[in-house]
Amino acid sequence: MADRQNPEQGFRPNDTFPVSQRTPHSTLGLHANRPATGLLASRRGPLVSRQDRIIQSTDIDALSSKYSAFLKGYLQDPYLEAIVNGQKHLSRPRDHVASSFVAKFPIINIGSYIRNYALNLIVDDMLAAVLPKSPKCQIISLGAGSDTRAFNLFAQHGTDDIIYHEIDFSITTAKKVATVMITPNLQKIIWPSLAQNEIPTLSSSGIEPNDEIHTPHYHLHARDLRDITSSSDLLQGMDPTLPTLVISECCLCYLQPDKTDHVLDWLSSHFTSGLGIAVYEPIGGNDSFGKVMIENLASRGISLPSLKKFPTLESQVQRLVDRKFTLNDGLAAANDIWSIYEDWIPETEKIRISKLEVLDELEELRILFQHYCISWAVTDGTSDSAWVKAFSKFSYRARN
Ligand SMILES: C[S@@+](CC[C@H](N)C(=O)[O-])C[C@H]1O[C@@H](n2cnc3c(N)ncnc32)[C@H](O)[C@@H]1O
Repeated sequence: MADRQNPEQGFRPNDTFPVSQRTPHSTLGLHANRPATGLLASRRGPLVSRQDRIIQSTDIDALSSKYSAFLKGYLQDPYLEAIVNGQKHLSRPRDHVASSFVAKFPIINIGSYIRNYALNLIVDDMLAAVLPKSPKCQIISLGAGSDTRAFNLFAQHGTDDIIYHEIDFSITTAKKVATVMITPNLQKIIWPSLAQNEIPTLSSSGIEPNDEIHTPHYHLHARDLRDITSSSDLLQGMDPTLPTLVISECCLCYLQPDKTDHVLDWLSSHFTSGLGIAVYEPIGGNDSFGKVMIENLASRGISLPSLKKFPTLESQVQRLVDRKFTLNDGLAAANDIWSIYEDWIPETEKIRISKLEVLDELEELRILFQHYCISWAVTDGTSDSAWVKAFSKFSYRARN
């Protein structure tokens, strides 16, 4: 059942707002649904601000949107159910996490589908281009939250070729650790060569502290990205010699621009060849729809600094160029989600998803999807120009 009565869901279909006001805060990944109050003690810092709690809660919103799309048949993901169950099991009643997992409107389901499809395509094309030339490659997911991409990639490719790093706040990674520890299927992916009785437990030295996991192929890091400076050391297990794709799926947009610059400089200074990035986030903060989006998010205590500073595809691309993500004849480009839907999704898929639900808000869909984008960039690197070629094939609407 759609959560039509939930005022925190973003919009109510019976509201009589004009199109430009009906959806800007219902999101393709940006949610600030639950009011957060008070301060929470954390092992890595004395107190967590209300603002940080709201940002952290967006993980559940992204997960619940993806889960809704999964239940409707848009996506396949054998690990999603386990992550959702973990979140329900581990949350406090007052966080109302269980009530987030209700059906979303078709527009949200389609948005989750396109975002997932497009980022999977970028990852798959990077792996196809790079792995024949390199024994391994590396993926770093900023603000990974409850994402399951790592588990799906290991299931598909095995654990020899990919090193996957996930970074998020300690409070979020601790829940992921705990979910893994109650889910044998996830344990098998993370410790494939260990028998069940050899898998580390929360209290053993295998996982210490209990908000991080480190294995040869999978690293879960408990870090606040705002603490990273351009001269910070790489995190445990990061290998600067490997071709590396960085993913920010609705994460960097929460950081102040100078903090984002530090993170991007940190990455581009350590990984000087064969470095790529894909950034999914909202744009259009300078038009009327975007302004309503900003106001609605502000009323929920959330600010998205990048929405004002990088409101266009061109400015999103320029940000990556300025942070040296296109060294040695690399490339940078960006597409909004509407044009990604039009240009990247095969007709057979469009027909399939069109049969899943009735969608009567096509104009609304177009406007909303034009307010989200994926920008991507890759340095040439001497051995990985196949990667640049692979990425060149994506159609683009803005390019350096
Ligand atoms: C909208 S959620 C997206 C989660 C995941 N990338 C996905 O698409 O399913 C944003 C995530 O970014 C994380 N995040 C935001 N700011 C962060 C920071 N300063 N340090 C670490 N993680 C951060 C949040 O905790 C949250 O998990």
